Amino acid sequence: MGKFQGKFNGAQTVFNFDDVILLPGFSKVEPREIDLTTRFSKNIPISIPIVSSPMDTVTESEMAIALARQGGIGVIHRNCTAEDQVEMVKIVKRSESFIIREVVTISRNAKVGEAAEIMRKNRISGLPVVENNRLVGIITGRDVRFTDPSVSVGEAMTKDVVVAKPGVTPEEAVELMKKHKVEKLPVVDGDGRLVGLITYRDVALRGEYKGATRDEEGRLRVAAAVSPFDVDRARLLSKHADALVIDVAHFHNSNVIEATRRLVRETSVDVVVGNLGTREGVLDSVSRIDNVAGLRVGIGSGSVCITTEVTRTGAPTLFAVSQAADALEEIGVEIPVIADGGVRNPGDVALAIAFGASCAMLGYVFAACKESPSPMTMMNGRYFKLHRGMGSQPARQKRMAVDRYSSKDIPEGTEVWIPFKGEVSSVVNEFVAGIRAAMGYAGASNIGELRRNSGIARMVSTREKAGIGQRIDQIR
Ligand code: XMP
Repeated sequence: MGKFQGKFNGAQTVFNFDDVILLPGFSKVEPREIDLTTRFSKNIPISIPIVSSPMDTVTESEMAIALARQGGIGVIHRNCTAEDQVEMVKIVKRSESFIIREVVTISRNAKVGEAAEIMRKNRISGLPVVENNRLVGIITGRDVRFTDPSVSVGEAMTKDVVVAKPGVTPEEAVELMKKHKVEKLPVVDGDGRLVGLITYRDVALRGEYKGATRDEEGRLRVAAAVSPFDVDRARLLSKHADALVIDVAHFHNSNVIEATRRLVRETSVDVVVGNLGTREGVLDSVSRIDNVAGLRVGIGSGSVCITTEVTRTGAPTLFAVSQAADALEEIGVEIPVIADGGVRNPGDVALAIAFGASCAMLGYVFAACKESPSPMTMMNGRYFKLHRGMGSQPARQKRMAVDRYSSKDIPEGTEVWIPFKGEVSSVVNEFVAGIRAAMGYAGASNIGELRRNSGIARMVSTREKAGIGQRIDQIR
């Protein structure tokens, strides 16, 4: 046989979600007891294996806030200016911080009228009073309401302030506030300097979202997409975001790898790289870049991807996941693998984990939610939201993320209108229930067990798959 025909005979088999199925296994736990805790990147734990795509119809602040509250994490897209992207990240970080760092204060010589005006403008209900950065009192809405505006703050303020130390935990803060019946707790260091402020509202919100993805200070976590060639933006973002995600369609490229190597050195947060699709791609990337914090894998399987049709290249998500997980095992490196592209059902997430992923990245599913930035329209009495590929013509027109693709000249993505699905919280609840159910069948009580022990079967042919569908139809 000739060399070229040999290519066919020796070809690898690629596969994706429709080609395999999880086999039922011996189960020792009930679905509700199943632990979904996993990791997004080396240093970022998440309590559900779900993250959102950096696409301009999917993840801006509102999506990132909603998803982090549910225990996942959002990756803010980069199809905008660096300033706009940083602002989106900041909105997430500010959304429900446990300790406010940029505290609005007032001096004791100011008048009560000024204090009232500052509170009204900033929509806050109290101001720590400081002198040379040291806390000398606190003035609240109650104090200003019943005091003549011309009186000095020093006279109207409460001087005996209940304060917390910098290392205070949310639980301790709540206890202090309840004990002293105060709603604001200035955080003061050993020298009496004001370093932060805790409000009852912010701590109370934490109780509402117990499994939320938070940093050490209780702020919601958020990641941001970057080009490997834009070190300035990466530096700026790394001051605020919890992780950066290198956002290119084909990471296995010497210029991209070299640029990322430099970028990782310049930034201090976790850097996830991708997209990768093969064992070789993973080995080349991980060996050349120090400190890769995670891999985003899958090429050409996204709902709005046309890369495989246009270029006849690709690495279907499930195949890419198995290649990456095997490559990492080969070299003994333990970093999370993120399955990216084509996830529609909870079972797809379970399958991705069974093939070695830590979590899955969803575009299509989240574009359909209320919190996505995409436009909504009504057709034939039903609501639809727009989802578009970052390589689609309209997304490219913004010009901010064109270097995702090696060719600037052909579109590699398309647009679709998808039925509106409601709020992120309900979609995530559905996914979580579905993933737990899949794990219940597979006999896995946590993500690690699903990765290591689950049984997989291959679906033999499309005709057979259709047969299963018909049987289900007949039963219905
Ligand atoms: P889903 O299926 O969840 O996939 O919508 C989201 C992922 O698709 C990738 N993506 C693209 N791939 N052309 C592509 O080939 C595109 O225009 C495009 N836009 C997004 C991306 O990896 C995303 O996370």
